[in-house]
Amino acid sequence: MRNFSLLTLCLLCGGISLFAQNSKIQSSVKNVETKVDSVLAMMTLEEKVGQLVQYNGSWDLTGPASELDGKQKESNLKKGLVGSMLNVLSVDATREAQKMIMENSRMKIPLIFGYDVIHGYKTIFPVPLGETASWDLEAMEKTARISAIESVANGINWTFSPMIDISRDARWGRIMESSGEDTYLTGQVAIAKVKGYQGDDLADQLTIAATAKHFAGYGLAEAGRDYNTVNIGENVLHNVVLPPFKDAADAGVATFMNSFNEIDGIPSTGNKTLQRDILKGAWNWDGFMVSDWGSIPEMINHGVAKDKKQAAEIAINAGSDMDMEGGAYETSLVALVNEGKVDIANINDAVKRVLRVKFMMGLFEDPYRYSDPNVAKNISYKEHEAVARDAAKKSIVLLKNESSLLPIKSSVRSIAVIGPLADDKDSPIGNWRAQGEANSAVSVLEGIKSAAGKNVKINYAQGTTLGVGERSFLMPLEINKTDRSGFSKAIEMAKKSEMVVMVLGEDAFQSGEGRSQASIKLAGLQQELLEEVFKVNKNIALVLLNGRPLEITWSAENVPSIVEAWFLGTESGNAIADVLFGTYNPSGKLPVSFPRSVGQEPLYYNQKNTGRPSNAEHVTYSHYTDVAKDALYPFGFGLSYTTFKYGDIAISSEAMNAEETLTVTIPVTNIGKVAGKEVVQLYLHDLVGTTTRPVKELKGFEMISLQPGETKNVSFTITEKMLQYYTANKKWESEVGDFDVMIGGNSKDLKKITFSLN
Ligand code: BGC
Repeated sequence: MRNFSLLTLCLLCGGISLFAQNSKIQSSVKNVETKVDSVLAMMTLEEKVGQLVQYNGSWDLTGPASELDGKQKESNLKKGLVGSMLNVLSVDATREAQKMIMENSRMKIPLIFGYDVIHGYKTIFPVPLGETASWDLEAMEKTARISAIESVANGINWTFSPMIDISRDARWGRIMESSGEDTYLTGQVAIAKVKGYQGDDLADQLTIAATAKHFAGYGLAEAGRDYNTVNIGENVLHNVVLPPFKDAADAGVATFMNSFNEIDGIPSTGNKTLQRDILKGAWNWDGFMVSDWGSIPEMINHGVAKDKKQAAEIAINAGSDMDMEGGAYETSLVALVNEGKVDIANINDAVKRVLRVKFMMGLFEDPYRYSDPNVAKNISYKEHEAVARDAAKKSIVLLKNESSLLPIKSSVRSIAVIGPLADDKDSPIGNWRAQGEANSAVSVLEGIKSAAGKNVKINYAQGTTLGVGERSFLMPLEINKTDRSGFSKAIEMAKKSEMVVMVLGEDAFQSGEGRSQASIKLAGLQQELLEEVFKVNKNIALVLLNGRPLEITWSAENVPSIVEAWFLGTESGNAIADVLFGTYNPSGKLPVSFPRSVGQEPLYYNQKNTGRPSNAEHVTYSHYTDVAKDALYPFGFGLSYTTFKYGDIAISSEAMNAEETLTVTIPVTNIGKVAGKEVVQLYLHDLVGTTTRPVKELKGFEMISLQPGETKNVSFTITEKMLQYYTANKKWESEVGDFDVMIGGNSKDLKKITFSLN
């Protein structure tokens, strides 16, 4: 009887049972709306505000163990004045927290439990920037599905992922958490991730709610400095930043998270145009918006609110529905409504959104659905590891391979494996590692040893250390800049080996939140070590582990082979060995430009032409006098152990009108000796618009597999929708005129043909 609350009674009286068994009925939108309204009608103002409050909890069964106000938090939970908690980990802990609500509060509205499951929960997959390099949407959906299952096994039913901030600046530490610089690609990843986390039915026990974050513009922080001001106009906002969020909303993402930054003087948390007018208005999205951690009271620091109360007023009126650990809503919203500063309609709207998601998740049907110990019993971590290895090998990008040092030939008898990251079992886990265990990844050395077999002598030397001392999510990282004691062994190992695999890059905690850097060179003594080793053995395959583009100009000029291996997660070393030994032919393509110099940042392929694009004779054109203006390795670039030849591009007609479509076709041939996969990319350029248009924009891609000698014709359909953009009329539309359509294996080397829209 203890669950037989006032709420249950009323709903049963109304003929609607929250405990109905039929899940189809449960998920029917009409029923959900009726239920949401019935619940709302019974709530007091205090209880409504409670639904908009989210607490952090490092939960220890007796109550939230964190913070000084733990007792107060517990008492508020029992009164039903909390709608959600984050960072409560384990089925026991979430069950215990849920019990506090279900056994003590009047309304018994279940909590939802959020956590940053960014690239896996326990089994860790490549960091999002790395995984995007696979361009394999099916694989990305699969890793999200596994993340969901492992989350539920630990009591979590809501992830703060995918992060879909367009990121054009390698200095920004959170670029690792993004899908890189391109709007279309990021949108495709967003859809795949939402599908993976949420499945077809949010009420399914093995799915979790996803979050599209950070709304909006956070990735374009000035100078790449985290949390910094964002200076963009409407053109970039609508054409570059917002489309992936629209994709996520259309894919049915349950929640959004707003962002720490301001745009044009308005912090996102207080931005009504973004949250109410665009997202909830024009896009008609009906999920709820959670603030970023403390971003409501941070409006005091921004200087647009004088205190928490005013910050709460601005945020709720602008459409921020839930206050993540900010303490602003719980202390101020009731008073603000009573004083007439906040319309009760805004509170009701926010509460309905939260309740709607909870109903969709089946939480009213069974509040403990996601705190079920049986889920963990059925998990095969071995199977998840196999998926992690697959995702990891597909994410690797071969940047350079002169003199065909790779794949490593079966005749090679000795390999020196050198570098601070060579036997590092922790950095490959990356930042935002959820419950991925420290030091649990397969290191590159381990991967190479198991792939090479007994007949190859592996000569390992660390050479130098990278991050020193204690390392963790919140601690600043100390880099070794002085200790060269390992150099001599590294040089000796390089001398006595036929070739060298040099594993350099970043410590996991060099990228991530709050990890912006002014320099993106190899940190510490790594460059020096590389050059010393190069003096004695030039047969170097450089393997990079990193969460951001690095400045690797020296390596690009000198080292014969370069493999971009990001932070690939649990199976990192095995996946890298798969590529080094040619068991897997690399197929990854960069989702972000690699600069020649940090001074080029922010650097992205879909830039504007400017009024002075080129002039070889004078200095007065858009360029640098000390470095080429293009990327060292452009967006979309990645080599294979085979070679793909693109034939002539053909188009079905030279013109189309808005009702028609066109087909562009290109033959792609594998002219090498091994089978391989290629990501064929489609770009468009709108030659004349009412606003300036990017020199090219990705609009489609297809991954094909080709046997040696095989040719495939790859076709793309051009629709009028693909030609639309946010024009000078301030709406999405196409404009008649000429367009270049370009196809190729990266954003630079493209075959081009022109058509017009009449
Ligand atoms: C980050 C969010 C994250 C939240 C909760 C914030 O600092 O910006 O991305 O989801 O913390 O951990």
